Amino acid sequence: MTDLLGGLGQLPKEQRPLVGKSANEIKVALEAALQERQEAIAQDEMSRALSAEGVDVTLPGRRPIVGKYHPTTTTMREIVDIFNLMGFQVYDAPEVETDENNFELLNFPPDHPAREMQDTFFTTSPDVILRTHTSPGQIRAMREFAPQPIRVILPGKCYRNEDVTARHEMMFYQVEGLAIGRNVAFSDLKGVLLNFFNQMYGEGRKIRFRKSYFPFTEPSVEVDVDCILCGAQGCRMCKYSGWLEILGAGMVHPVVLKNGGYDPAEFSGFAFGMGIERQAILKRGIDDIRYFYDNDVRFLERVA
Ligand code: DAH
Repeated sequence: MTDLLGGLGQLPKEQRPLVGKSANEIKVALEAALQERQEAIAQDEMSRALSAEGVDVTLPGRRPIVGKYHPTTTTMREIVDIFNLMGFQVYDAPEVETDENNFELLNFPPDHPAREMQDTFFTTSPDVILRTHTSPGQIRAMREFAPQPIRVILPGKCYRNEDVTARHEMMFYQVEGLAIGRNVAFSDLKGVLLNFFNQMYGEGRKIRFRKSYFPFTEPSVEVDVDCILCGAQGCRMCKYSGWLEILGAGMVHPVVLKNGGYDPAEFSGFAFGMGIERQAILKRGIDDIRYFYDNDVRFLERVA
């Protein structure tokens, strides 16, 4: 075509327009045919490549797997939020404790039988243990703030050398609460806990106090809430009693107040402690504490 068009000048004058026009038409037609064929080949290549890769471009995309909070974290934050609104501030205390803070200053003398209930993990250092409860944080908070009135909650991990069962783990979480002031009464404990239960488990909760014993409180109680799972009708979870055991509590023992730096003649206080997994179990219908730290993603993904 180039030669032909280039040679136009050698043709007699009157033939030039005719030959030029035909040559041009042929050129345009060839270019169109070439482009059409190239496009067809490209289309063909694309569909061959797509079917070889097995990609169906009409399918919806795959959702990326996003992480979420562990049920213990979610539950702990729910509990902390409720107490924050009642003026309790979070106080962080260590998981590795002294025997003195974990027991002695909480009024467990060296051979006190209540130590037996808390199967302690010891270390090679005679006075250093893994805390068996969050209560030693009470001593730390009191010693930091005495003689100011305080309202603190202490969430965190605890350890006990227990046989692991559906109800017991050797590592678990507790939340401790402590309020100290010049006029703190047992009725304050009752009001704070009733408000907590109403917010945590829904309005209209009923609570029940049963007499109990802890070395660091006097009087000591265990607090039950009406069974939220069966509407207090009786079920496996409440052992057909209509009541769920939730926490231990009491008025801070004068010896403990003194150990914390408060004069028991002037100050009084209440304290309570509860297991966090237990609250998650009740609220989220989980039936075995061992799921919590097995790290099986099927459980972690499913539970809210
Ligand atoms: N520390 C106790 C335990 O682990 C729970 C407890 C009971 C904490 C009574 C308290 C309390 O603060 O007043 O079993």
